[in-house]
Amino acid sequence: MKSILIYTISIILFTIIVYSIDKYFNYQDFETPQYCGTKCHEEFFHQWRQSMMAQAFTHEWDEIEYFELALPHSEIDEKVSEVKAGCNGCHAPLAYLTGDIPPKRPSEKTRANESVSCDVCHTIVGFTGDIPYNFNYIVKPGKTKYNSRKSNIESPNHKIEVNPIMKTGDFCGICHNEMSPYGVWVKSTHLEWREGPYYKEGVQCQDCHMPRAETRTAVMGKIYPDARQHLFNGAHDPAKVKGAVEIRLNPDCTEVEPGNPVKLNVVLFNQKTGHKFPTGSVEDRILWLHVEAIDSKGNVYHLPVDKKGFAGEEYTIAQDVLAYQDMGIPLKIPDFKGVQRDGIPIGDRIFRMPYFDPQGRMTIQQWNTASLGVDYRIGPRQTVIETYTFNVPVNLPLGKLKFVAVLNYQLLVKPVAEFLKVPKSEYEIIEVNRQTTEINVID
Ligand code: HEC
Ligand code: HEC
Ligand code: HEC
Ligand code: HEC
Repeated sequence: MKSILIYTISIILFTIIVYSIDKYFNYQDFETPQYCGTKCHEEFFHQWRQSMMAQAFTHEWDEIEYFELALPHSEIDEKVSEVKAGCNGCHAPLAYLTGDIPPKRPSEKTRANESVSCDVCHTIVGFTGDIPYNFNYIVKPGKTKYNSRKSNIESPNHKIEVNPIMKTGDFCGICHNEMSPYGVWVKSTHLEWREGPYYKEGVQCQDCHMPRAETRTAVMGKIYPDARQHLFNGAHDPAKVKGAVEIRLNPDCTEVEPGNPVKLNVVLFNQKTGHKFPTGSVEDRILWLHVEAIDSKGNVYHLPVDKKGFAGEEYTIAQDVLAYQDMGIPLKIPDFKGVQRDGIPIGDRIFRMPYFDPQGRMTIQQWNTASLGVDYRIGPRQTVIETYTFNVPVNLPLGKLKFVAVLNYQLLVKPVAEFLKVPKSEYEIIEVNRQTTEINVID
Protein backbone atom coordinates (compact mmCIF):
# COMPACT_ATOMS: atom_id res chain seq x y z
CA MET A 1 0.00 0.00 0.00
CA LYS A 2 2.76 2.36 1.07
CA SER A 3 4.84 1.59 -2.00
CA ILE A 4 1.85 2.20 -4.28
CA LEU A 5 1.41 5.59 -2.63
CA ILE A 6 5.09 6.47 -3.09
CA TYR A 7 4.88 5.21 -6.65
CA THR A 8 1.83 7.38 -7.38
CA ILE A 9 3.39 10.45 -5.76
CA SER A 10 6.60 10.04 -7.72
CA ILE A 11 4.66 9.68 -10.98
CA ILE A 12 2.77 12.88 -10.19
CA LEU A 13 6.00 14.69 -9.30
CA PHE A 14 7.72 13.37 -12.42
CA THR A 15 4.81 14.55 -14.60
CA ILE A 16 4.93 18.01 -13.00
CA ILE A 17 8.68 18.28 -13.57
CA VAL A 18 8.52 17.08 -17.19
CA TYR A 19 5.53 19.32 -17.83
CA SER A 20 7.26 22.38 -16.42
CA ILE A 21 10.48 21.68 -18.35
CA ASP A 22 8.59 21.15 -21.59
CA LYS A 23 6.27 24.04 -21.20
CA TYR A 24 8.12 27.00 -19.83
CA PHE A 25 5.69 29.73 -20.87
CA ASN A 26 2.23 30.53 -22.16
CA TYR A 27 1.47 32.68 -25.19
CA GLN A 28 -0.19 35.17 -22.82
CA ASP A 29 3.19 35.80 -21.19
CA PHE A 30 4.22 37.72 -24.31
CA GLU A 31 2.79 40.95 -25.72
CA THR A 32 1.73 40.95 -29.36
CA PRO A 33 3.62 43.26 -31.74
CA GLN A 34 0.30 45.00 -32.43
CA TYR A 35 0.00 45.78 -28.75
CA CYS A 36 3.52 47.27 -28.58
CA GLY A 37 3.17 48.92 -31.95
CA THR A 38 -0.25 50.50 -32.16
CA LYS A 39 -0.43 52.04 -28.71
CA CYS A 40 3.04 53.36 -28.38
CA HIS A 41 5.97 52.37 -30.61
CA GLU A 42 4.27 53.08 -33.93
CA GLU A 43 7.36 54.04 -35.88
CA PHE A 44 9.30 50.89 -34.99
CA PHE A 45 6.26 48.70 -35.52
CA HIS A 46 5.89 49.85 -39.12
CA GLN A 47 9.58 49.30 -39.76
CA TRP A 48 9.66 45.87 -38.15
CA ARG A 49 6.49 44.54 -39.82
CA GLN A 50 8.16 44.89 -43.23
CA SER A 51 11.28 43.03 -42.18
CA MET A 52 11.89 39.33 -42.76
CA MET A 53 12.08 38.74 -39.02
CA ALA A 54 8.38 39.66 -38.81
CA GLN A 55 7.71 36.91 -41.38
CA ALA A 56 10.24 34.32 -40.29
CA PHE A 57 7.53 31.72 -39.75
CA THR A 58 4.92 32.83 -42.28
CA HIS A 59 6.61 33.65 -45.54
CA GLU A 60 6.21 31.04 -48.27
CA TRP A 61 9.67 29.51 -48.54
CA ASP A 62 9.90 29.19 -44.75
CA GLU A 63 6.52 27.47 -44.64
CA ILE A 64 7.42 25.09 -47.48
CA GLU A 65 10.81 24.16 -46.08
CA TYR A 66 9.55 23.51 -42.56
CA PHE A 67 6.28 21.75 -43.32
CA GLU A 68 7.26 19.83 -46.47
CA LEU A 69 10.90 18.99 -45.79
CA ALA A 70 12.18 19.50 -42.24
CA LEU A 71 9.11 18.38 -40.27
CA PRO A 72 8.52 15.11 -42.19
CA HIS A 73 12.29 14.46 -42.18
CA SER A 74 12.42 14.90 -38.38
CA GLU A 75 9.77 12.20 -38.06
CA ILE A 76 11.60 9.70 -40.31
CA ASP A 77 15.22 10.14 -39.26
CA GLU A 78 16.06 9.99 -35.54
CA LYS A 79 19.34 11.84 -36.14
CA VAL A 80 17.51 15.02 -37.18
CA SER A 81 14.48 14.66 -34.88
CA GLU A 82 15.50 17.74 -32.87
CA VAL A 83 14.63 20.13 -35.72
CA LYS A 84 10.91 19.49 -35.30
CA ALA A 85 11.07 21.87 -32.36
CA GLY A 86 14.42 23.50 -33.16
CA CYS A 87 13.52 25.34 -36.38
CA ASN A 88 10.93 27.21 -34.32
CA GLY A 89 13.49 28.24 -31.72
CA CYS A 90 14.57 30.93 -34.20
CA HIS A 91 11.67 31.24 -36.67
CA ALA A 92 8.70 31.04 -34.27
CA PRO A 93 10.20 31.60 -30.81
CA LEU A 94 6.83 31.93 -29.08
CA ALA A 95 5.70 28.52 -30.36
CA TYR A 96 8.99 27.04 -29.24
CA LEU A 97 8.93 28.66 -25.80
CA THR A 98 5.35 27.59 -25.13
CA GLY A 99 5.81 24.05 -26.44
CA ASP A 100 3.34 24.53 -29.32
CA ILE A 101 5.20 21.99 -31.48
CA PRO A 102 4.77 21.53 -34.34
CA PRO A 103 2.98 24.85 -34.71
CA LYS A 104 -0.07 24.97 -36.95
CA ARG A 105 0.36 26.21 -40.53
CA PRO A 106 0.48 30.03 -40.91
CA SER A 107 -3.04 30.00 -42.43
CA GLU A 108 -4.36 28.93 -39.00
CA LYS A 109 -3.27 32.34 -37.68
CA THR A 110 -1.85 31.18 -34.34
CA ARG A 111 0.58 33.32 -32.38
CA ALA A 112 3.47 31.37 -33.93
CA ASN A 113 2.90 33.76 -36.85
CA GLU A 114 4.30 36.64 -34.80
CA SER A 115 7.74 35.22 -35.67
CA VAL A 116 10.66 37.20 -34.20
CA SER A 117 8.52 39.78 -32.43
CA CYS A 118 9.22 42.81 -30.23
CA ASP A 119 8.65 40.87 -27.04
CA VAL A 120 11.03 38.09 -28.09
CA CYS A 121 14.01 40.41 -28.48
CA HIS A 122 13.06 42.75 -25.66
CA THR A 123 12.78 39.96 -23.06
CA ILE A 124 16.08 38.27 -23.93
CA VAL A 125 18.45 38.83 -21.01
CA GLY A 126 21.41 36.80 -22.28
CA PHE A 127 22.47 33.45 -23.65
CA THR A 128 23.81 30.22 -22.16
CA GLY A 129 27.45 29.19 -22.68
CA ASP A 130 30.19 31.21 -24.39
CA ILE A 131 29.08 31.25 -28.01
CA PRO A 132 25.69 32.55 -29.10
CA TYR A 133 24.09 29.95 -31.43
CA ASN A 134 21.07 27.68 -31.85
CA PHE A 135 18.62 29.94 -29.98
CA ASN A 136 20.49 29.61 -26.66
CA TYR A 137 18.71 32.72 -25.40
CA ILE A 138 17.61 33.21 -21.81
CA VAL A 139 14.16 34.78 -21.93
CA LYS A 140 12.43 36.59 -19.08
CA PRO A 141 8.98 37.75 -20.20
CA GLY A 142 7.03 40.05 -17.93
CA LYS A 143 6.59 43.66 -16.92
CA THR A 144 10.27 44.45 -17.48
CA LYS A 145 11.48 45.13 -21.02
CA TYR A 146 15.17 45.21 -21.79
CA ASN A 147 16.95 47.84 -23.83
CA SER A 148 20.52 49.07 -24.10
CA ARG A 149 19.75 52.74 -23.39
CA LYS A 150 19.50 53.98 -19.85
CA SER A 151 16.28 55.94 -19.88
CA ASN A 152 15.19 58.51 -17.28
CA ILE A 153 11.71 58.42 -18.70
CA GLU A 154 9.29 55.98 -17.13
CA SER A 155 7.11 54.02 -19.47
CA PRO A 156 3.48 54.04 -18.33
CA ASN A 157 3.24 50.42 -19.41
CA HIS A 158 6.37 48.57 -18.38
CA LYS A 159 9.66 48.84 -16.53
CA ILE A 160 12.84 49.35 -18.54
CA GLU A 161 16.05 47.67 -17.57
CA VAL A 162 19.42 48.09 -19.24
CA ASN A 163 20.81 45.03 -20.97
CA PRO A 164 24.22 45.87 -22.44
CA ILE A 165 24.32 42.75 -24.62
CA MET A 166 21.64 44.28 -26.87
CA LYS A 167 24.26 46.74 -28.11
CA THR A 168 26.46 43.96 -29.45
CA GLY A 169 26.46 41.56 -32.37
CA ASP A 170 26.55 38.69 -29.89
CA PHE A 171 22.87 39.34 -29.27
CA CYS A 172 22.12 38.68 -32.95
CA GLY A 173 24.38 35.61 -32.99
CA ILE A 174 21.89 33.79 -30.76
CA CYS A 175 19.88 33.09 -33.93
CA HIS A 176 22.41 33.99 -36.64
CA ASN A 177 24.72 31.04 -35.90
CA GLU A 178 23.36 27.56 -36.37
CA MET A 179 24.88 24.14 -35.85
CA SER A 180 23.34 21.11 -37.57
CA PRO A 181 22.57 17.87 -35.70
CA TYR A 182 25.83 16.60 -37.28
CA GLY A 183 27.82 19.30 -35.46
CA VAL A 184 28.50 21.42 -38.57
CA TRP A 185 28.20 25.23 -38.62
CA VAL A 186 25.46 25.68 -41.19
CA LYS A 187 24.92 29.34 -40.42
CA SER A 188 27.75 31.47 -39.14
CA THR A 189 27.02 35.13 -39.88
CA HIS A 190 28.04 36.14 -36.37
CA LEU A 191 31.22 34.01 -36.41
CA GLU A 192 32.21 35.45 -39.81
CA TRP A 193 31.72 38.95 -38.44
CA ARG A 194 33.79 38.11 -35.33
CA GLU A 195 36.70 37.04 -37.55
CA GLY A 196 36.43 40.01 -39.90
CA PRO A 197 37.58 43.64 -39.88
CA TYR A 198 34.34 45.23 -38.63
CA TYR A 199 34.32 43.49 -35.26
CA LYS A 200 37.91 44.68 -34.64
CA GLU A 201 36.81 48.24 -35.35
CA GLY A 202 33.83 47.94 -33.02
CA VAL A 203 31.23 47.99 -35.81
CA GLN A 204 28.22 45.96 -34.69
CA CYS A 205 25.48 44.22 -36.69
CA GLN A 206 23.17 46.98 -35.44
CA ASP A 207 25.30 49.67 -37.12
CA CYS A 208 24.42 48.32 -40.58
CA HIS A 209 21.03 46.69 -39.96
CA MET A 210 19.61 49.08 -37.33
CA PRO A 211 21.19 52.40 -38.31
CA ARG A 212 20.81 55.34 -35.93
CA ALA A 213 18.53 58.28 -36.75
CA GLU A 214 16.52 60.95 -35.03
CA THR A 215 13.27 59.35 -33.90
CA ARG A 216 10.55 59.58 -31.29
CA THR A 217 10.87 56.01 -30.04
CA ALA A 218 7.51 56.07 -28.27
CA VAL A 219 4.43 58.18 -28.98
CA MET A 220 4.56 59.85 -25.53
CA GLY A 221 8.36 59.67 -25.26
CA LYS A 222 11.05 62.11 -26.25
CA ILE A 223 12.97 62.42 -29.50
CA TYR A 224 16.39 60.81 -29.49
CA PRO A 225 19.00 61.89 -32.04
CA ASP A 226 20.41 58.37 -32.34
CA ALA A 227 17.58 55.87 -32.05
CA ARG A 228 18.09 52.45 -33.60
CA GLN A 229 15.92 52.08 -36.68
CA HIS A 230 14.24 48.67 -36.74
CA LEU A 231 14.85 48.04 -40.44
CA PHE A 232 16.64 44.69 -40.32
CA ASN A 233 16.98 44.83 -44.09
CA GLY A 234 19.14 42.18 -45.67
CA ALA A 235 19.19 39.88 -48.67
CA HIS A 236 15.47 40.32 -49.37
CA ASP A 237 15.94 44.03 -49.93
CA PRO A 238 17.44 44.63 -53.39
CA ALA A 239 18.50 48.10 -52.25
CA LYS A 240 20.66 46.52 -49.54
CA VAL A 241 22.18 43.95 -51.89
CA LYS A 242 22.87 46.45 -54.69
CA GLY A 243 26.45 47.54 -54.85
CA ALA A 244 27.55 45.20 -52.06
CA VAL A 245 30.44 44.25 -54.32
CA GLU A 246 32.23 46.63 -56.70
CA ILE A 247 33.50 45.41 -60.06
CA ARG A 248 36.34 46.68 -62.27
CA LEU A 249 37.44 45.13 -65.58
CA ASN A 250 41.02 45.18 -66.77
CA PRO A 251 41.81 43.69 -70.19
CA ASP A 252 45.55 43.06 -70.76
CA CYS A 253 45.61 45.21 -73.93
CA THR A 254 43.90 48.16 -75.56
CA GLU A 255 44.00 46.70 -79.09
CA VAL A 256 43.87 43.16 -80.42
CA GLU A 257 44.12 41.50 -83.85
CA PRO A 258 41.61 38.73 -84.70
CA GLY A 259 43.04 35.29 -83.95
CA ASN A 260 44.80 36.45 -80.76
CA PRO A 261 43.80 36.00 -77.11
CA VAL A 262 42.72 38.76 -74.71
CA LYS A 263 43.02 38.17 -71.01
CA LEU A 264 40.44 40.01 -68.90
CA ASN A 265 40.85 40.49 -65.17
CA VAL A 266 37.68 41.04 -63.18
CA VAL A 267 38.35 42.58 -59.77
CA LEU A 268 35.58 42.16 -57.19
CA PHE A 269 35.73 44.15 -53.94
CA ASN A 270 33.27 43.48 -51.11
CA GLN A 271 32.83 46.98 -49.78
CA LYS A 272 29.53 46.64 -47.96
CA THR A 273 28.86 43.45 -46.01
CA GLY A 274 30.06 42.93 -42.42
CA HIS A 275 30.26 39.16 -42.93
CA LYS A 276 30.84 36.99 -45.95
CA PHE A 277 28.67 37.38 -48.99
CA PRO A 278 26.61 35.26 -49.27
CA THR A 279 26.06 34.58 -45.57
CA GLY A 280 23.30 32.98 -43.50
CA SER A 281 21.30 30.53 -45.58
CA VAL A 282 24.32 29.76 -47.74
CA GLU A 283 22.82 26.41 -48.77
CA ASP A 284 20.01 28.21 -50.61
CA ARG A 285 21.78 31.23 -52.05
CA ILE A 286 23.67 31.60 -55.31
CA LEU A 287 25.93 34.54 -56.25
CA TRP A 288 27.49 34.35 -59.69
CA LEU A 289 29.54 36.34 -62.17
CA HIS A 290 28.44 36.33 -65.80
CA VAL A 291 30.88 37.74 -68.37
CA GLU A 292 30.30 38.42 -72.06
CA ALA A 293 32.18 39.95 -74.97
CA ILE A 294 30.14 41.89 -77.54
CA ASP A 295 31.61 42.75 -80.96
CA SER A 296 30.94 45.82 -83.11
CA LYS A 297 28.10 44.00 -84.93
CA GLY A 298 26.40 43.12 -81.64
CA ASN A 299 27.31 39.41 -81.61
CA VAL A 300 27.57 38.09 -78.04
CA TYR A 301 30.21 35.62 -76.81
CA HIS A 302 29.69 34.11 -73.37
CA LEU A 303 33.03 33.74 -71.58
CA PRO A 304 33.52 30.85 -69.14
CA VAL A 305 35.79 31.67 -66.19
CA ASP A 306 39.42 30.49 -66.28
CA LYS A 307 39.97 27.65 -63.82
CA LYS A 308 42.23 28.39 -60.84
CA GLY A 309 42.78 24.76 -59.91
CA PHE A 310 41.94 24.76 -56.17
CA ALA A 311 40.39 21.73 -54.45
CA GLY A 312 36.61 21.66 -54.76
CA GLU A 313 36.58 24.24 -57.57
CA GLU A 314 34.02 22.18 -59.51
CA TYR A 315 31.37 23.44 -57.07
CA THR A 316 32.20 27.05 -57.91
CA ILE A 317 31.75 26.82 -61.67
CA ALA A 318 28.25 26.28 -63.06
CA GLN A 319 27.77 22.83 -64.54
CA ASP A 320 25.10 20.55 -65.96
CA VAL A 321 24.87 18.15 -63.00
CA LEU A 322 22.16 16.95 -60.61
CA ALA A 323 22.16 17.54 -56.86
CA TYR A 324 19.90 17.77 -53.78
CA GLN A 325 18.90 14.08 -53.94
CA ASP A 326 18.23 14.06 -50.18
CA MET A 327 14.99 16.01 -50.71
CA GLY A 328 13.68 12.58 -51.72
CA ILE A 329 13.76 11.44 -48.06
CA PRO A 330 11.13 13.80 -46.61
CA LEU A 331 9.22 13.89 -49.92
CA LYS A 332 9.17 10.07 -49.90
CA ILE A 333 10.39 9.72 -53.50
CA PRO A 334 12.50 6.53 -53.60
CA ASP A 335 15.78 6.85 -55.58
CA PHE A 336 15.17 10.54 -56.22
CA LYS A 337 17.55 11.63 -58.99
CA GLY A 338 17.73 15.24 -57.81
CA VAL A 339 17.40 18.48 -59.79
CA GLN A 340 19.91 20.70 -61.59
CA ARG A 341 22.54 21.99 -59.18
CA ASP A 342 22.87 25.58 -60.36
CA GLY A 343 20.30 26.65 -62.96
CA ILE A 344 22.56 29.40 -64.35
CA PRO A 345 24.75 29.63 -67.51
CA ILE A 346 27.38 26.88 -67.58
CA GLY A 347 30.92 28.11 -67.01
CA ASP A 348 29.95 31.08 -64.80
CA ARG A 349 31.88 31.52 -61.54
CA ILE A 350 29.81 30.90 -58.40
CA PHE A 351 30.70 32.38 -55.01
CA ARG A 352 29.41 29.78 -52.57
CA MET A 353 30.17 27.12 -49.99
CA PRO A 354 28.56 23.76 -50.81
CA TYR A 355 26.81 21.79 -48.02
CA PHE A 356 26.93 17.98 -48.17
CA ASP A 357 24.53 15.39 -46.75
CA PRO A 358 25.85 12.28 -44.92
CA GLN A 359 26.18 10.54 -48.33
CA GLY A 360 28.37 13.37 -49.66
CA ARG A 361 25.75 14.80 -52.02
CA MET A 362 25.11 18.53 -52.21
CA THR A 363 22.09 19.56 -50.13
CA ILE A 364 19.89 22.58 -49.40
CA GLN A 365 18.66 20.84 -46.21
CA GLN A 366 20.99 22.53 -43.76
CA TRP A 367 19.77 20.29 -40.91
CA ASN A 368 20.92 17.26 -42.93
CA THR A 369 24.41 18.68 -43.45
CA ALA A 370 27.27 16.42 -42.36
CA SER A 371 30.16 18.35 -43.98
CA LEU A 372 31.01 21.54 -45.85
CA GLY A 373 32.93 22.01 -49.10
CA VAL A 374 35.29 24.74 -50.26
CA ASP A 375 34.44 28.21 -48.89
CA TYR A 376 34.55 30.35 -52.02
CA ARG A 377 32.53 33.33 -50.81
CA ILE A 378 33.69 36.93 -50.70
CA GLY A 379 34.74 38.00 -47.21
CA PRO A 380 34.15 41.46 -45.72
CA ARG A 381 36.47 43.96 -47.49
CA GLN A 382 38.03 41.06 -49.41
CA THR A 383 39.03 41.48 -53.04
CA VAL A 384 38.83 38.52 -55.41
CA ILE A 385 40.22 38.47 -58.96
CA GLU A 386 38.76 36.23 -61.68
CA THR A 387 40.28 35.91 -65.13
CA TYR A 388 38.68 35.25 -68.50
CA THR A 389 40.55 34.39 -71.69
CA PHE A 390 38.83 35.32 -74.94
CA ASN A 391 40.42 33.85 -78.06
CA VAL A 392 39.29 36.47 -80.55
CA PRO A 393 37.85 34.59 -83.58
CA VAL A 394 39.70 35.24 -86.89
CA ASN A 395 36.51 36.53 -88.50
CA LEU A 396 35.56 38.88 -85.66
CA PRO A 397 34.41 42.23 -87.10
CA LEU A 398 36.85 45.12 -86.61
CA GLY A 399 35.97 48.01 -84.31
CA LYS A 400 34.97 48.18 -80.66
CA LEU A 401 34.95 45.01 -78.58
CA LYS A 402 32.99 45.45 -75.38
CA PHE A 403 33.27 43.36 -72.21
CA VAL A 404 30.37 43.21 -69.76
CA ALA A 405 30.50 41.63 -66.31
CA VAL A 406 27.37 41.20 -64.20
CA LEU A 407 27.27 39.92 -60.63
CA ASN A 408 23.90 38.30 -59.92
CA TYR A 409 22.28 37.02 -56.75
CA GLN A 410 19.40 34.64 -56.15
CA LEU A 411 17.97 33.78 -52.73
CA LEU A 412 17.21 30.21 -53.76
CA VAL A 413 18.71 28.15 -56.60
CA LYS A 414 16.10 28.17 -59.35
CA PRO A 415 15.77 24.41 -60.05
CA VAL A 416 15.03 23.76 -56.35
CA ALA A 417 12.55 26.65 -56.21
CA GLU A 418 10.73 25.39 -59.30
CA PHE A 419 10.70 21.80 -58.06
CA LEU A 420 9.20 22.80 -54.69
CA LYS A 421 6.83 25.33 -56.30
CA VAL A 422 8.22 28.24 -54.32
CA PRO A 423 6.71 31.54 -55.54
CA LYS A 424 8.75 33.38 -58.20
CA SER A 425 9.32 36.38 -55.95
CA GLU A 426 11.55 34.16 -53.78
CA TYR A 427 14.06 33.55 -56.55
CA GLU A 428 14.03 36.62 -58.74
CA ILE A 429 17.49 37.57 -59.95
CA ILE A 430 18.88 40.56 -58.04
CA GLU A 431 21.66 42.38 -59.88
CA VAL A 432 24.38 43.23 -57.37
CA ASN A 433 26.53 45.17 -59.79
CA ARG A 434 27.59 45.49 -63.42
CA GLN A 435 30.60 46.92 -65.22
CA THR A 436 31.76 47.34 -68.83
CA THR A 437 34.95 48.23 -70.66
CA GLU A 438 36.11 48.34 -74.29
CA ILE A 439 39.12 47.58 -76.46
CA ASN A 440 39.64 47.92 -80.21
CA VAL A 441 39.84 45.08 -82.74
CA ILE A 442 42.28 46.15 -85.49
CA ASP A 443 43.86 44.37 -88.43
C1 HEC B 1 15.60 41.22 -33.59
C2 HEC B 1 15.44 41.83 -32.30
C3 HEC B 1 14.53 43.00 -32.13
C4 HEC B 1 13.20 43.07 -32.48
C5 HEC B 1 12.36 42.05 -33.21
C6 HEC B 1 12.73 44.35 -32.00
N1 HEC B 1 13.74 45.03 -31.41
FE1 HEC B 1 13.60 46.84 -30.51
N2 HEC B 1 15.62 46.85 -30.21
C7 HEC B 1 16.47 45.79 -30.48
C8 HEC B 1 17.81 46.15 -30.12
C9 HEC B 1 19.02 45.24 -30.29
C10 HEC B 1 17.76 47.46 -29.61
C11 HEC B 1 18.89 48.30 -29.04
C12 HEC B 1 20.01 48.50 -29.99
C13 HEC B 1 21.14 49.34 -29.43
O1 HEC B 1 20.90 50.15 -28.55
O2 HEC B 1 22.25 49.21 -29.90
C14 HEC B 1 16.35 47.87 -29.67
C15 HEC B 1 15.86 49.12 -29.23
C16 HEC B 1 14.51 49.42 -29.12
C17 HEC B 1 13.98 50.59 -28.49
C18 HEC B 1 14.78 51.69 -27.85
C19 HEC B 1 15.30 52.64 -28.84
C20 HEC B 1 16.21 53.67 -28.23
O3 HEC B 1 16.90 54.31 -29.01
O4 HEC B 1 16.25 53.81 -27.01
C21 HEC B 1 12.61 50.51 -28.56
C22 HEC B 1 11.61 51.49 -28.03
C23 HEC B 1 12.29 49.29 -29.25
N3 HEC B 1 13.45 48.65 -29.58
C24 HEC B 1 11.02 48.84 -29.51
C25 HEC B 1 10.72 47.74 -30.33
C26 HEC B 1 9.39 47.40 -30.80
C27 HEC B 1 8.13 48.15 -30.47
C28 HEC B 1 9.51 46.30 -31.57
C29 HEC B 1 8.43 45.57 -32.36
C30 HEC B 1 7.65 46.37 -33.27
C31 HEC B 1 10.91 45.91 -31.53
N4 HEC B 1 11.60 46.81 -30.79
C32 HEC B 1 11.43 44.79 -32.15
C33 HEC B 1 16.10 44.57 -31.00
C34 HEC B 1 14.86 44.24 -31.47
C1 HEC C 1 15.17 35.13 -31.96
C2 HEC C 1 16.03 34.91 -33.10
C3 HEC C 1 16.67 36.09 -33.78
C4 HEC C 1 17.41 37.12 -33.24
C5 HEC C 1 17.72 37.36 -31.77
C6 HEC C 1 17.85 37.92 -34.34
N1 HEC C 1 17.41 37.40 -35.52
FE1 HEC C 1 17.65 38.19 -37.38
N2 HEC C 1 16.59 36.67 -38.21
C7 HEC C 1 16.05 35.62 -37.51
C8 HEC C 1 15.39 34.72 -38.43
C9 HEC C 1 14.68 33.44 -38.08
C10 HEC C 1 15.56 35.27 -39.72
C11 HEC C 1 15.09 34.70 -41.04
C12 HEC C 1 13.86 35.34 -41.56
C13 HEC C 1 13.39 34.59 -42.80
O1 HEC C 1 12.81 33.52 -42.62
O2 HEC C 1 13.67 35.04 -43.89
C14 HEC C 1 16.32 36.51 -39.53
C15 HEC C 1 16.66 37.35 -40.57
C16 HEC C 1 17.42 38.49 -40.41
C17 HEC C 1 17.88 39.32 -41.51
C18 HEC C 1 17.70 39.00 -42.97
C19 HEC C 1 16.74 39.86 -43.69
C20 HEC C 1 16.70 39.55 -45.15
O3 HEC C 1 16.21 40.40 -45.86
O4 HEC C 1 17.18 38.51 -45.61
C21 HEC C 1 18.63 40.34 -40.96
C22 HEC C 1 19.33 41.45 -41.69
C23 HEC C 1 18.62 40.13 -39.53
N3 HEC C 1 17.88 39.02 -39.23
C24 HEC C 1 19.32 40.94 -38.64
C25 HEC C 1 19.37 40.72 -37.26
C26 HEC C 1 20.10 41.56 -36.35
C27 HEC C 1 20.91 42.76 -36.74
C28 HEC C 1 19.90 41.04 -35.11
C29 HEC C 1 20.43 41.56 -33.79
C30 HEC C 1 20.09 42.93 -33.46
C31 HEC C 1 19.05 39.87 -35.24
N4 HEC C 1 18.75 39.70 -36.58
C32 HEC C 1 18.62 39.07 -34.20
C33 HEC C 1 16.10 35.41 -36.15
C34 HEC C 1 16.68 36.28 -35.24
C1 HEC D 1 29.35 46.76 -42.52
C2 HEC D 1 27.93 46.54 -42.57
C3 HEC D 1 27.37 45.22 -42.07
C4 HEC D 1 27.59 44.62 -40.84
C5 HEC D 1 28.52 45.05 -39.73
C6 HEC D 1 26.73 43.46 -40.80
N1 HEC D 1 26.04 43.34 -41.98
FE1 HEC D 1 24.64 41.95 -42.41
N2 HEC D 1 24.50 42.66 -44.33
C7 HEC D 1 25.12 43.79 -44.80
C8 HEC D 1 24.81 43.94 -46.21
C9 HEC D 1 25.27 45.07 -47.13
C10 HEC D 1 23.97 42.87 -46.56
C11 HEC D 1 23.35 42.57 -47.94
C12 HEC D 1 24.19 41.64 -48.76
C13 HEC D 1 24.13 40.23 -48.26
O1 HEC D 1 23.10 39.58 -48.40
O2 HEC D 1 25.13 39.78 -47.65
C14 HEC D 1 23.81 42.08 -45.35
C15 HEC D 1 23.04 40.92 -45.27
C16 HEC D 1 22.73 40.27 -44.09
C17 HEC D 1 21.83 39.14 -43.99
C18 HEC D 1 21.13 38.46 -45.15
C19 HEC D 1 22.09 37.47 -45.74
C20 HEC D 1 21.58 36.58 -46.82
O3 HEC D 1 22.29 36.40 -47.81
O4 HEC D 1 20.50 36.04 -46.69
C21 HEC D 1 21.80 38.78 -42.67
C22 HEC D 1 21.01 37.65 -42.08
C23 HEC D 1 22.67 39.68 -41.95
N3 HEC D 1 23.22 40.56 -42.83
C24 HEC D 1 22.88 39.65 -40.58
C25 HEC D 1 23.94 40.31 -39.95
C26 HEC D 1 24.37 40.03 -38.60
C27 HEC D 1 23.70 39.06 -37.67
C28 HEC D 1 25.46 40.82 -38.37
C29 HEC D 1 26.36 40.86 -37.16
C30 HEC D 1 26.86 39.57 -36.70
C31 HEC D 1 25.67 41.63 -39.57
N4 HEC D 1 24.73 41.27 -40.50
C32 HEC D 1 26.65 42.59 -39.73
C33 HEC D 1 25.94 44.64 -44.08
C34 HEC D 1 26.40 44.40 -42.78
C1 HEC E 1 19.75 29.22 -34.93
C2 HEC E 1 18.58 29.81 -35.52
C3 HEC E 1 17.91 29.10 -36.65
C4 HEC E 1 17.49 27.80 -36.69
C5 HEC E 1 17.60 26.74 -35.62
C6 HEC E 1 16.87 27.64 -38.00
N1 HEC E 1 16.91 28.80 -38.70
FE1 HEC E 1 16.20 29.10 -40.55
N2 HEC E 1 17.08 30.91 -40.59
C7 HEC E 1 17.67 31.53 -39.52
C8 HEC E 1 18.19 32.81 -39.93
C9 HEC E 1 18.90 33.79 -39.04
C10 HEC E 1 17.90 32.92 -41.30
C11 HEC E 1 18.24 34.08 -42.21
C12 HEC E 1 19.58 33.89 -42.81
C13 HEC E 1 19.74 34.69 -44.04
O1 HEC E 1 19.07 35.69 -44.22
O2 HEC E 1 20.55 34.28 -44.86
C14 HEC E 1 17.20 31.71 -41.69
C15 HEC E 1 16.73 31.45 -42.96
C16 HEC E 1 15.91 30.38 -43.29
C17 HEC E 1 15.29 30.19 -44.56
C18 HEC E 1 15.46 31.07 -45.77
C19 HEC E 1 14.47 32.14 -45.71
C20 HEC E 1 14.46 33.02 -46.91
O3 HEC E 1 13.64 33.90 -46.83
O4 HEC E 1 15.19 32.85 -47.87
C21 HEC E 1 14.52 29.07 -44.47
C22 HEC E 1 13.62 28.47 -45.55
C23 HEC E 1 14.71 28.54 -43.15
N3 HEC E 1 15.57 29.35 -42.46
C24 HEC E 1 14.12 27.39 -42.64
C25 HEC E 1 14.54 26.76 -41.49
C26 HEC E 1 14.17 25.41 -41.12
C27 HEC E 1 13.25 24.51 -41.90
C28 HEC E 1 14.82 25.14 -39.96
C29 HEC E 1 14.87 23.85 -39.18
C30 HEC E 1 15.45 22.74 -39.88
C31 HEC E 1 15.56 26.33 -39.59
N4 HEC E 1 15.36 27.28 -40.54
C32 HEC E 1 16.31 26.44 -38.43
C33 HEC E 1 17.79 31.03 -38.24
C34 HEC E 1 17.54 29.72 -37.91
